[in-house]
Order: sequence, then structure tokens, then C-alpha cells
Amino acid sequence: MLKQNTILLILSVFLFSCATNKMVDSDMKDKQLVNDKENPIFYTYFPGLPIGVAVNTWEYFDESNKYNKLMKQFNGFVYENSMKMDAMQPTEGNFEFGNAKKLIKYAKDNNSVVRGHTLLWHNQYPNWFFKDIDGKDVSKDVLLKRIERHIKTIVTELKGEVKYWDVVNEVLEENGTLRNSKYLEIVGSEEYIAKAFQWAHESDPSAKLFINDYSICFSGAKQDGMYNLVKKLLAKGVPIHGVGLQSHINMSHPNVEDMRKTIKRFASLGLEVQVTELDISVYRSSSEKKMDITTDILLEQAERYRSLFEMFKEEAQNGNLTMVTLWGLSDDKTWLNDFPVKGRG
Ligand code: G3I
Repeated sequence: MLKQNTILLILSVFLFSCATNKMVDSDMKDKQLVNDKENPIFYTYFPGLPIGVAVNTWEYFDESNKYNKLMKQFNGFVYENSMKMDAMQPTEGNFEFGNAKKLIKYAKDNNSVVRGHTLLWHNQYPNWFFKDIDGKDVSKDVLLKRIERHIKTIVTELKGEVKYWDVVNEVLEENGTLRNSKYLEIVGSEEYIAKAFQWAHESDPSAKLFINDYSICFSGAKQDGMYNLVKKLLAKGVPIHGVGLQSHINMSHPNVEDMRKTIKRFASLGLEVQVTELDISVYRSSSEKKMDITTDILLEQAERYRSLFEMFKEEAQNGNLTMVTLWGLSDDKTWLNDFPVKGRG
């Protein structure tokens, strides 16, 4: 498990123009690197480009804890899990807004924006969503009604408070075709995607609506599939405003220039582009064995973050990128510690 903190590394690279072993020394204290001033450090380094982070409820309950201190450095927030379908509507018709409203308040108090993740997904949905009382799949009509109610209730209740919504998440297969999910199986086409965007837009015309996916931040069939799907939906008048590049990447892939090309490609459709779930695994593949995470590896990782963020800054200045979000506050708690290999870190 990684002991060091990615956020601190990124901050340190930007705070001190050259990386030294001292920065990742195990004696490093949070307070040496974390600025306690009211304005997030990222306002200074990335003017006009919100830098967000995915958080969990426990990370901001205690004002004195280290996570809360780290949170102060960001100016955008998204829940890692607490606004997913199973959290928002655990049983049919019973919606939970408590956690969402807490994050919205925190963001407001800290002059930050909120991303809503996510209205529709094939994971972390409540068990009842696709089933009738006999446990059989619901009809297309019933599913569309459930989707409509889920989206309209949530987006209306949080109207004006969530600047960006991931309306649909991960709707594509690796080859760029529509994902073979329950949504597709029951609805039969991309109609459910188009309707999801329409219902979200009707509920909050001021919210920016995103289609979000992984493995589209680099060239390939999946990126082409996303490009073609979005183009097609836009031509039909579907209110899609942005493409979210999740960007769960590793030390060697993809290269920075390929990601730049991707950002420009989606921006050329007249859409906002955001990096929505950035993290960089210290491994290069799922077959790599667990290794000791040395200072050299951490410095290499920090350098990769630095070069990416230089590019992000340039593309933000070019008007092609509107937000970057890191997927998690600290490496000791990241989902990557158990994915793709449990316990590898
Ligand atoms: O809440 C339960 C808890 O009650 C239970 O005791 C515990 C036992 O394992 O599990 C808890 O649920 C876990 C949940 O995170 C909340 O911590 C799930 O097991 C775990 O699978 C779930 O993982 C999340 C994953 O999405 C689910 O697919 C990760 O935290 C979250 O980082 C990850 O986020 C996704 C994005 O939403 C979409 N893009 C990919 C990204 C990474 O997979």
C-alpha cells in the first residue's frame, strides 16, 4: 500500500520547481506542504481551471483531520460513491439527499464547484431498479419511467447546486459499441441515453450535462465510439454539454500528447471536456507483482503528474478543458489498492 500522498506530491512539484528526494522523505509532515491559507493553492497555479477531488463522507466530518486539510486545497468536489444510484434511491421512491446536500454546502462555503456522479450506471444501482415484484426484468416502459423519475427527482431537488452532472457513466464497450447492460438489454437502443439527457436538462437547464467513460482518454476504438455516439446524439438535438475523460491511467500509458489530442478532439465538437477521475497507478499492468514503492517510483509518478498538469493548463488556456478531478484524496485509501489486484496497492 502506498504510504505517500499523491496530492502532496503534485503540490510539492508545483510549489518547488524541482523535485528532490527531500519531498518524499518519510519524515515529511503534511504542514510543510499544505498551505492553510483560505484560497486553495490550485487557484494560484491553475487560474480558471477548477481542480477537483473525489471524496467520501468521512473525509469531511472532522474539521481537524488531515483529509479535511487536503480538501481545502481543492476548488471542486465529487462524491466517490455517495451520489450513485444505490445511495440516492436505495428503495423505490425513497430518495436520500442528506449527503449530497452536505457536500453542496461544503463546496459553497469553500467557494468550489460540485460534480454529480452519477445519474445512471450499470454498477452500484439499487437491486430493485431493473426488476418487478416477481424478480423478472421490467418492461422498457417501466424502466424508462424509473429512469425518468430517478433523474428528474434528483436533478430538480439539487437544481442550481450541482454545476456538472455525469448523466450516464460507462455506456460503451471496449470496442466502442453500446455496453451490453441491463439498460440496453431492456430499452434496446441508445434511446435511454438520449432521454436521460433530456430529462436532466428539463430538470435543471443551467446544469452542464456530461457523458463519462474510461479508456476514452487515449486513441482507439472506444474513443472513436464515444466520438461517433456524441456526434450522433448532438445531431439529434440531445442536450449533451460535455465529455468526461475518467483517466484512470498508469505510469507508461497513455502518453501526454495522446491525451492532448483527445481533449482537442472532443472539444472540436463544441463540447466541454473534463478529466473527471484522474489517478496514476504506479504499476504498468495487472500482471505486475506487488512491489516496494520507492522514492524513485514516487518521483517518477510525480513527474508524470507534472507533465500532465502542464498540458492541462495549456489546454485550459486554449479553451479546451474546463476542469480536472483527482479520484481520491490520498493513496492510502484509493480504490486502486484493490484493483486490478486485491491488496497490491
Ligand atoms: O458501502 C459498502 C459497505 O457497506 C461494505 O461493508 C463494504 C464491504 O466491501 O463495501 C462498501 O461498498 C464499497 C463501495 O465502494 C463504498 O466504499 C464497494 O464494495 C466497492 O466496490 C465500491 O467501490 C467503488 C467502485 O467505484 C464501485 O464500482 C470505489 O470506491 C469507487 O472509487 C469506484 O469509482 C468508479 C467510478 O464511480 C466510475 N469510474 C471508475 C471508478 C473506479 O472504479
